[in-house]
Amino acid sequence: MSLVRKKAADKQRRTLLKFILALVGGIFTYPLASLFKAAPKKRKERVVIFENTPRLNKPLIKNGVWLVKGEEEIFAFPNRCTHLGCPLNFVEGKFVCKCHGSRFDIRGKKIMGPAKHDLPKLHVFLTNDGKAVVKL
Ligand code: FES
Repeated sequence: MSLVRKKAADKQRRTLLKFILALVGGIFTYPLASLFKAAPKKRKERVVIFENTPRLNKPLIKNGVWLVKGEEEIFAFPNRCTHLGCPLNFVEGKFVCKCHGSRFDIRGKKIMGPAKHDLPKLHVFLTNDGKAVVKL
């Protein structure tokens, strides 16, 4: 074997050895690193309490939550457009985004974009004393 071929073969071996060492190092390092990751924080549950329930077409807003009375049900939505999160206005029976004009009906269903999704419904509980409790 000539000296040039031997040097080339040595270089290939070194490159292969570096690759294997990097691979083995990664395999052992990843599980160890995951042991030191912080445990995910539990999200605190938030509640918004409305003292009264809304009338038809007169939604109430409190602490970033809309409470709406439909024909038979009461709905709650966060006051955030599903496009980029801008606040909503209630205009002529519809929720209208202040930023880019998306519109949602009284049930939170998207009428017009650019938003691609309906408003997410929040859980509403009615208490015996006429309050509405919305869980976020
Ligand atoms: S943030 Fe509402 S339409 Fe863009």
